[in-house]
Amino acid sequence: MPLQQRMTDYHCHILPGIDDGPKEQYESIEMARLLAEAGYRKVYCTPHLIKGMYEVSNEEVLYERDKLQRELVKEGIGIKLLAGREYYLDEFLLDYISKPLLLEGTSCMMIEIPSNTSVDLVKETIFAIKRRGYNPLIAHPERCFLLEMVEREPQGAGKWKRWFSRGRVQNKGKELGNELLFYFKQLECQFQGNLGSLNGQYGGRVKASALYFEKTGVYTHAGTDAHSADAVKDILWIR
Ligand SMILES: [Fe+2]
Repeated sequence: MPLQQRMTDYHCHILPGIDDGPKEQYESIEMARLLAEAGYRKVYCTPHLIKGMYEVSNEEVLYERDKLQRELVKEGIGIKLLAGREYYLDEFLLDYISKPLLLEGTSCMMIEIPSNTSVDLVKETIFAIKRRGYNPLIAHPERCFLLEMVEREPQGAGKWKRWFSRGRVQNKGKELGNELLFYFKQLECQFQGNLGSLNGQYGGRVKASALYFEKTGVYTHAGTDAHSADAVKDILWIR
């Protein structure tokens, strides 16, 4: 199904006062109202967990989810809030996998991979998560340049060059690939695309990756990754 037609938001910073999402509850309610009007019925609350930056407990996430859900019921907004987290992949992530907050009702652990980390650390961490029995769900892979498609040089075995260097498709029928993406697929990881990536919110390079992933069926989940009511409007083209 095309990314824009999936009506569960698997990635949303809707809870107030936990990360860089809305500061106040009224803005969370406005986000929910906009999502409901756009046709959404389920929204996963996925605040950041980044050591040293956003570190509230899982219990606090669940408490804030319940509190906001009660307000939505009072306001007559037909959105079911589901719990989750967006875990940042760094050298501290494995400290949190003894009891992670999975996406509610699934075995998926949502992981954000920064572009400036090492491929070895990414592989080791994702493998450890998988071995513990969780299903890694890679958040917005199109925004991680480690997962960018590259093309093989015609005569240079093993030599790869950047494909999306100018933010547009330049493959012209050449063989494309990405070794880390291949590794993730071998481990049966899942992939959540950001709707805003498809409309160019993060620039042409990310958009090109998103369009390629969409076309080739990489995405298994979709999300707004919205952090505010204005962001919901931008991502969903609400005027
Ligand atoms: Fe996010």
